[in-house]
Amino acid sequence: MNFEQELQQKVVEIEGILRKYIPKEEGYQKTVMEAMNYSLLAGGKRLRPLLMAETYQLFGGVELTLLEPFLSAIEMIHTYSLVHDDLPAMDNDEYRRGRKTTHVVYGEAMAILAGDGLLNYAFETALKAFELIIPTKETSEIIAYQRVAKALQVLSVKAGIYGMIGGQVIDMEDYNGVVERSRLDLMYQLKTGALIEASMMIGAILAGASKEEVYKIENIADDIGLAFQIKDDILDVTSTPEVLGKPVHSDEKNEKTTYVTIMELEKANNEVVQISTRAMDAFEALPYKNEFLKSLIKMLINREN
Ligand code: IPE
Ligand code: IPE
Ligand code: MG
Ligand code: MG
Ligand code: MG
Repeated sequence: MNFEQELQQKVVEIEGILRKYIPKEEGYQKTVMEAMNYSLLAGGKRLRPLLMAETYQLFGGVELTLLEPFLSAIEMIHTYSLVHDDLPAMDNDEYRRGRKTTHVVYGEAMAILAGDGLLNYAFETALKAFELIIPTKETSEIIAYQRVAKALQVLSVKAGIYGMIGGQVIDMEDYNGVVERSRLDLMYQLKTGALIEASMMIGAILAGASKEEVYKIENIADDIGLAFQIKDDILDVTSTPEVLGKPVHSDEKNEKTTYVTIMELEKANNEVVQISTRAMDAFEALPYKNEFLKSLIKMLINREN
């Protein structure tokens, strides 16, 4: 099986897991569940669950039981961030994952609530891991409890004001000062990097990685996130809505400062290569191997969507 086929198979597996955890569409509040599932099941690259599952394997994790709720939770948080990011009050975009955005289909109020619902449901879902703990030969009940609790802590911090929300705040505020690259980098590390960090750290934590190892993974993921967002800026000017599944020139429309406005396109591309290579080198220096994960990080450099 080549990398592409393997990737496709893994995405199918992740979607299968996600479907097990999505809310049932029933009751008087049914519309919000429909709106939540509309955006969740619209597709998407499923990059964050992929990174989580592969990092879990990297550190010797095999049994998926405790990981599954977290795979679903991270995609719910990511999807909520997109639903809110597309709202008229934020980026005001009408396409996402090849479909009309949630607020276009369900109205703004329901899109806000669907986002809120996804964020909260992510924690309802992740917390189910506690009920799935069964002591094994390798891991006692208390150790499994500790790992799940630590994973929840990482998930909550990385999604919040010191993570993704914090990055979106910096993105939303008008900034008339000199464009400092450090400010832009921090914004990217938070709005995009934080959930990628959470994904890889949770994979490592649940597999029993040490504190030092989790810290190394956090740094690698931070670079992957930064490179990923610079590439997102580039695709916003070089791609097409058909390939991207979302509008192009959204940043220009919103007069955003991005890597593409502070430097030449070619230079921005070089940054993606350089930062990704730094992540790869740090990854290679780990005493564990996962060839698929290596190819996945490499693939992100040349991704088209
Ligand atoms: C889009 O994320 C938002 C960014 C952080 C750039 P993805 O490019 O991972 O979006 P999906 O999940 O594939 O739709
Ligand atoms: C996305 O940044 C960051 C999020 C946390 C949603 P963008 O606003 O550039 O993402 P896209 O391009 O709309 O996917
Ligand atoms: Mg945005
Ligand atoms: Mg946007
Ligand atoms: Mg973008």
